[in-house]
Amino acid sequence: MSGKIIDGKELAAQLRSEIADGVSRLKEEKGIVPGLAVILVGDNPASVSYVTAKEKASQEAGMYSKEIRLPESTTEQELVSLVKELNSDPLIHGILVQLPVPKHISDKAVINAIAPEKDVDGFTPVNVGKMLIGEECFLPCTPHGIIKLIEFSGMDIRGKHAVVIGRSNIVGKPVAVLLSRKETNATVTLCHTGTKDISKFTKEADIIIVAAGRPMTLTGDMIKEGAVVIDVGVNRVPCPETTRGYKLVGDADFESCSKVASAITPVPGGVGPLTITMLLFNTLESAKRAAR
Ligand code: GUN
Repeated sequence: MSGKIIDGKELAAQLRSEIADGVSRLKEEKGIVPGLAVILVGDNPASVSYVTAKEKASQEAGMYSKEIRLPESTTEQELVSLVKELNSDPLIHGILVQLPVPKHISDKAVINAIAPEKDVDGFTPVNVGKMLIGEECFLPCTPHGIIKLIEFSGMDIRGKHAVVIGRSNIVGKPVAVLLSRKETNATVTLCHTGTKDISKFTKEADIIIVAAGRPMTLTGDMIKEGAVVIDVGVNRVPCPETTRGYKLVGDADFESCSKVASAITPVPGGVGPLTITMLLFNTLESAKRAAR
């Protein structure tokens, strides 16, 4: 059996077209243009490419994109002050500080400075807490996008066993919470570096989400025939044959996993486009709330 590829670009294009329609309607009916501020501190190459993609996508959806690039030497106080200014800027409905920030800045301090009603990443304690207890909030973009991708693959999540590998605040923990909510009703196992034998769990899983930040974390021999695999990893591995000198691979071994899975996301072109799409979704939602 050879698994089908879950085309994140195709799903993202469908959803972005709906979002662009929503942006046009909001402009016509209320005269409001959703505004997204994207802040990058330093010049980490992967972060540069992520924020560039986020800005381009927000412009393509008809939004106002405020691009803020700050030097590596920026202090925590300067960054927090900037975030606070944006909190009270009426043209801005969403604030995103690309993580990781340089080591001398506390990401906690920066995230805590973002007004929850403009926290379109869904990272502030208020939004995380609301998500946990099922109140209306901004859902974190990658976990929300993962749910959309599983649904797009054709799998009915309800009653399934999902195994999540990785317990980060950005992906692993929140996706485990989302999958176990009443709406999706999955049974969730969260594996991490303290798990003794990950394959014991993955072999039982109908859905596997791998977000460990390490290539080859999941291989074909670790999964059940017909499982759906969502690969969140984006790892640069040396590749002298390419002009850039590296290639991107996920956390799953695509070749072996795709032979056993019923469906699998590629890297790139799987989860990444959905993360950006859900960011646009939250920014539009924030602007709509401001219009109420
Ligand atoms: N770094 C890696 N993923 C993300 C994300 O979704 N949002 C932000 N702000 N930083 C990230």
